[in-house]
Amino acid sequence: MKGIVLAGGKGSRLYPITKAVSKQLLPVYDKPLIYYPLSVLMLAGIREILIISTPEHTPAYESLLGDGSWLGIELRYKVQSAPRGLADAFILGEDFIGNENVALILGDNIFYGQNLTNILQDARKLKKGAVIFGYPVKDARSFGVVEFDEEYRVISIEEKPEKPKSNYAVPGLYFYDNKVVEIAKSIKPSKRQELEITAVNNVYLERGEIKVIPLGRGMAWFDTGTPESLLKAAEYVEAIQLRQGFYIACLEEIAWRRGFINTEQLRAIGEKYNMTEYGQYLLSLANEHN
Ligand code: DAU
Repeated sequence: MKGIVLAGGKGSRLYPITKAVSKQLLPVYDKPLIYYPLSVLMLAGIREILIISTPEHTPAYESLLGDGSWLGIELRYKVQSAPRGLADAFILGEDFIGNENVALILGDNIFYGQNLTNILQDARKLKKGAVIFGYPVKDARSFGVVEFDEEYRVISIEEKPEKPKSNYAVPGLYFYDNKVVEIAKSIKPSKRQELEITAVNNVYLERGEIKVIPLGRGMAWFDTGTPESLLKAAEYVEAIQLRQGFYIACLEEIAWRRGFINTEQLRAIGEKYNMTEYGQYLLSLANEHN
């Protein structure tokens, strides 16, 4: 399975912070925002990942993350010339996706919690159709909203409805079979002139090929589109890291635990950043396993 991180857009709800800087490069406590969605794809065991961003900001992602070899993964980059919508990722990514299935994660979405790795690895097993998630929120009006029955059969999916039919938001993480490329090409732009991911999901729904996995209380999900949500996410990361001593979205740790890099490679990165707590954390992991 291939993975895509969509890290473009205008970041308009974060102006003036995003006037000269890409939203997904902003810090969330001690790491750039994009580390968090990237960590989710890595936890799902996905090692070939395409990062899509704007013409002005794509070079910054390349200098931050390079070709991915330091993490034992393969990273590629693609420019989105204008924010044509989330489903545009599959049109831009057609050659990259090839004949495989694909997971898409939005560059501003953070997931963390117990059992996340198992949930991701289950979703990854998908053979046919689509897998989306449902996350309970107090006010679902600013999200995609999924309605489902007691047996988790999807009844409807609506984009930012005025009157949500459920309180389950659809977070920005989606798993699809290879048909998603053709489906993305077939949908029409919405009123806001975007190729909506919800339109793609509705095609799968009409075909009876979409599954929803509800995420429970033990899971944290942040969509960091506003100054408030960005700060809340940073506070959450700080609280967990200081309290438990485990890092959230430490890409080198994930790569090492999954066997993408070995202990010597981990130690070398830790030594390079020895002057930071982040580097010292990597060294402590490497030293535990001497
Ligand atoms: O966060 C989850 C929500 O994301 C879902 O519940 C909605 O169904 C989905 O439409 C999306 O809603 P948003 O209105 O929050 O999407 P937004 O336009 O803010 O874009 C999400 C991210 O994707 C953001 O980091 C910018 C990036 N993006 C967006 C567009 C439209 C791109 O890179 N390219 C694009 O063309």
